[in-house]
Amino acid sequence: MNSAKNASKPAKLTRNLGLKHRNSFGLDSTAELAYEITSANQLPALMKELGDKKLTWRALGGGSNVILPESLPGATLLINILGQEIIQSDQEYSWLSVGAGVNWHEFVAWTLDQNLPGLENLALIPGTVGAAPIQNIGAYGVEIGEYIDSIEAFDSSAHAFVTLSQEACQFAYRDSYFKQNPNRFIVTKVVFKISKAWQARLQYADLAKQFAESSSSPSAKQIFDAVCTIRSNKLPDPKVIGNAGSFFQNPIVSTEQYEQLSKKFPNLVSYPDIPGMRKLAAGWLIDQCGFKGKRVGPVGVYEDQALVLVNHGGGTSTDILNLAKSIQEEVQNNFGIGLDIEPNIL
Ligand code: EPU
Repeated sequence: MNSAKNASKPAKLTRNLGLKHRNSFGLDSTAELAYEITSANQLPALMKELGDKKLTWRALGGGSNVILPESLPGATLLINILGQEIIQSDQEYSWLSVGAGVNWHEFVAWTLDQNLPGLENLALIPGTVGAAPIQNIGAYGVEIGEYIDSIEAFDSSAHAFVTLSQEACQFAYRDSYFKQNPNRFIVTKVVFKISKAWQARLQYADLAKQFAESSSSPSAKQIFDAVCTIRSNKLPDPKVIGNAGSFFQNPIVSTEQYEQLSKKFPNLVSYPDIPGMRKLAAGWLIDQCGFKGKRVGPVGVYEDQALVLVNHGGGTSTDILNLAKSIQEEVQNNFGIGLDIEPNIL
């Protein structure tokens, strides 16, 4: 518990706040009580009040990995805790302390301006710094969990601030201790530990291809730019067409099951995983079922990447979840594989 946290101005309350522009799917959703959290110090009093009144609550970061219902009863905490600084540096590492409400992509760009490369493969991922560790965001061969030193959060069970070490966060593919314990923690600050021995990480085929013809090793800024280009070409811009990135996790199966499947489907796309297991490209499975570009009323499957569901405008969480269900059923029928939904269904 951090007893040094003094009281501060209470969180600003807005009643019946429309969240359409605060979720990347662009779903119409109204928060009964929306509290803007600009400082961790506001949480103890607010959480006590919500507890005393027996109100349900949830925290919302950038809204880029959630499926919101049409109305959100109780309290919605809009996390807008800002600030980023280098807090320590030695010959091997730099430690950065970053507020949970900081925009992830802008933070990655800032680390490069500070000459602290390492996070460039994770450029252009929408959302906030505080939400990123919950699903352990990952792209192009890098996961955020590798770079986290510790996380400060308000633990609603203990009604106290806690600091979780990297190990305690239990990072795994699109998973963490926070995700395993939903509605318990409110992440307020993330401390990153960035090695000064930087090396380009180009093992992901799409990225390696960008530099195949260059004789010298690319800089972190060049990798950052290449990742931005690849993502912009493959993934829909949420400002133009509502989406939450990959809608399903890539399923992990036993090598035995993988071998049986690949005999039947020689083009099956997969990646190595921990020994004895193999990760399959869910996008490929969905694509094979003929869903790419398919539209069902106001929602659909993105035309260039079958793993991304989109809201063409006016779609609701029910529309999205019905489409998701039909995809899950088809993939189950054709491949005997269950797909898990990635974004958080509130
Ligand atoms: N594929 C198809 N058809 C499709 C889509 C994909 O055949 O419609 C096949 C292709 O062969 C492709 C392979 O599947 O090479 C994998 O696709 P891609 O490289 O686009 O990556 P992904 O597995 O679909 C994952 C992450 C992305 C991340 C990329 C790059 C998950 C759930 N998704 O996608 O993360 O950006 O790799 O590392 O792990 C996100 O989580 O929101 C996200 C965008």
